[in-house]
Amino acid sequence: MEAVIEQYCKKLKIGKVFYQDYKKIKADSHEAFLLELLKREYENREIVRKNRLLRSAAFDVIKTFENYTYDKVHIPADITVEEITSATLVGKKENLILYGPTGTGKSHMATAIGVEACKQGKKVRFFRTAALVNQLTDAKARGELRRFLKQLEKIDLLICDEWGYIPFEKDGAQLLFQVISECYEKRSVIVTTNIEFSRWNGIFYDEKMIAAIIDRLIHHSHLLVFEGPSRRLTDSPINSQ
Ligand SMILES: Nc1ncnc2c1ncn2[C@@H]1O[C@H](COP(=O)(O)OP(=O)(O)OP(=O)(O)O)[C@@H](O)[C@H]1O
Ligand SMILES: [Mg+2]
Repeated sequence: MEAVIEQYCKKLKIGKVFYQDYKKIKADSHEAFLLELLKREYENREIVRKNRLLRSAAFDVIKTFENYTYDKVHIPADITVEEITSATLVGKKENLILYGPTGTGKSHMATAIGVEACKQGKKVRFFRTAALVNQLTDAKARGELRRFLKQLEKIDLLICDEWGYIPFEKDGAQLLFQVISECYEKRSVIVTTNIEFSRWNGIFYDEKMIAAIIDRLIHHSHLLVFEGPSRRLTDSPINSQ
């Protein structure tokens, strides 16, 4: 009988938990048994779904807000730490710009927000901006740009890390502009950068395009300014000797 139960579960695409756990359930009624079994199956599916979301987000490394300190981050009046850590901006289609020198925790925060959004069932995609631009130009060269853009349209939060660290080709800048324009008021974007707005002309060639991209990014956005020395240096064992 057990083997048949397993077979039916497989045909119905019901997970392992269902046919492995039912024997462990102690219940006083049919309803209580069924309820517990369904609850376990549901919880398992949620875990699987969240893990899938975390994988497809393609974070560089997984980071969370556990042990994250805010003393070197200037949080503007229009957002609270609680709102940042609970990734509420994603539901509201707001943007975040994380600006500051190297090693101050911008990528960490962007990733931790993305991880939290995944936990809430949101679709996230993390890119180093240069890699996104490369993928866009490659997709265009292969005639697959539309398909690539369609994939990006499915996400709730786009993270563009290291914005402007490497200058793009003119074509690439135009494609990135296209992506940001498409996101405008439809999904959230988080940008991490160490380049102030006035120096973005070094990244984008066309001044009108720079103005248009900044305009779209900063509308419905919060600017967090990071400061201080690089955590990579202060946290280094060399420094604590
Ligand atoms: N406020 C913080 N609390 C805890 N850990 C931190 C904090 N800020 C940075 N770190 C840690 O310091 C290291 C550097 O941080 P991170 O990579 O986020 O810097 P960054 O601002 O993105 O730098 P870059 O501009 O060079 O990309 C990481 O290992 C990160 O986890
Ligand atoms: Mg970084």
